[in-house]
Amino acid sequence: MHDFQYRHGELHCEDVAVSRIAKEVGTPCYVYSHTTLTRHYRAFDGAFRSVPHIVAFAMKANSNLAILRLMAREGSGADIVSGGELYRALQAGIAPAKIVFAGVGKNRQEIRYALENDILMFNVESSAELRAIDEVAAELGRRARVALRINPDIDPMTHPYISTGLKKSKFGISADRALDEYKLASSLKHIEVVGVHKHIGSQLTEVTPFVDALKKVLVLVESLKAHGAHIRYINIGGGLGITYLDEVPPHPQELADAISPLVRDLKCVLIMEPGRVIVGNAGILLTSVLYTKEGESKRFIIVDAAMNDLIRPSLYGAYHEIRPVREVPHAKTVTVDVVGPVCESGDFLAKDRAMPDAKPGDLLAVMSAGAYGFVMASNYNSRPRVPEVLVKEGQIHVIRAREEFADLVRGEVIPDFLR
Ligand code: LLP
Repeated sequence: MHDFQYRHGELHCEDVAVSRIAKEVGTPCYVYSHTTLTRHYRAFDGAFRSVPHIVAFAMKANSNLAILRLMAREGSGADIVSGGELYRALQAGIAPAKIVFAGVGKNRQEIRYALENDILMFNVESSAELRAIDEVAAELGRRARVALRINPDIDPMTHPYISTGLKKSKFGISADRALDEYKLASSLKHIEVVGVHKHIGSQLTEVTPFVDALKKVLVLVESLKAHGAHIRYINIGGGLGITYLDEVPPHPQELADAISPLVRDLKCVLIMEPGRVIVGNAGILLTSVLYTKEGESKRFIIVDAAMNDLIRPSLYGAYHEIRPVREVPHAKTVTVDVVGPVCESGDFLAKDRAMPDAKPGDLLAVMSAGAYGFVMASNYNSRPRVPEVLVKEGQIHVIRAREEFADLVRGEVIPDFLR
């Protein structure tokens, strides 16, 4: 459920007509609903109320400072994958004691930065990384808390680019190797193993892969405990899917009902890293139609947003519903490609889509764009990145300004020999 609904034929974000946002802020822009964000966070957090838990919002899905501050106020922690994300999380006021650091390639500066800020733990993906963390922790005279990221080899049944828990994936430590990694970790003076972690993929629409993967991990936890491990945290990762088209993903409560009984008696804190399920349907990309064009074999609707603003359709063939901001009664349905101004054939927001026809000047809403939307935007074709807007109680708050041309060249230098 989200708060982008029609009233009298006009798409609204909460109580605000989306066309008003276009007028005040211009297009393209991302628009987020405060009510939806809050409701989604609370639904997720509340679903797990029967077990001690930490929700570590996967900020890779959306890392705008205002959104992170909102999450922090709700009590959320953060799942981070870079020093830059840690910087943002701290700026937004997320408690370091609720920050977990994942990723196969943490560099030494990032490790140091995280240790200096005393984050909750590193989710460790290899022995080389364990050694690096140990060395940096030694330099700082600290002990680093870590969880071993287990690769449970479970098929999440999602897009191959966003499955992470299969044997062939670069992520995690195989269940067979986990005990050896634990032995290594416990021999390192500046490492304390406090948990296990797994994340098998994104946009999962079934509970079963979560349960199967967790069961595998719990078998391992038993054997780690038998070897003296004091496992206090079990991190089940993120990955709960959303409805883009006709998917029927489980409600967080269904996930919680399946997961909570498995961990209730373990005297552990459960950690979750939801991203998409919190922000995905809480945001849209608002765009204007520039032109329409009859190609040789198809009709194109050319809009002012492009693949650099929302890359998911081009990169994953992802489906995002596109709705007219003003409903036209009895509008003719046409089959079109909705494309942007970028010079690539892969620049499209929708392909062979049956939708109400649109004309220049019309506003379109690209739905479900709150997760992996702005964060994956680039300046390709020297296009300034678009603004982000948060709607709350009838007010429009610009939470990231539209970039200017000067932003495009910031940091670039013409060396003396070219002057
Ligand atoms: N935890 C870890 C360790 C992850 O790698 C991810 C996502 C998450 C949590 C959050 O997953 P979520 O709850 O959002 O599904 N750009 C792709 C998605 C990449 C996901 C990467 N990892 C997309 O646009 O679909």
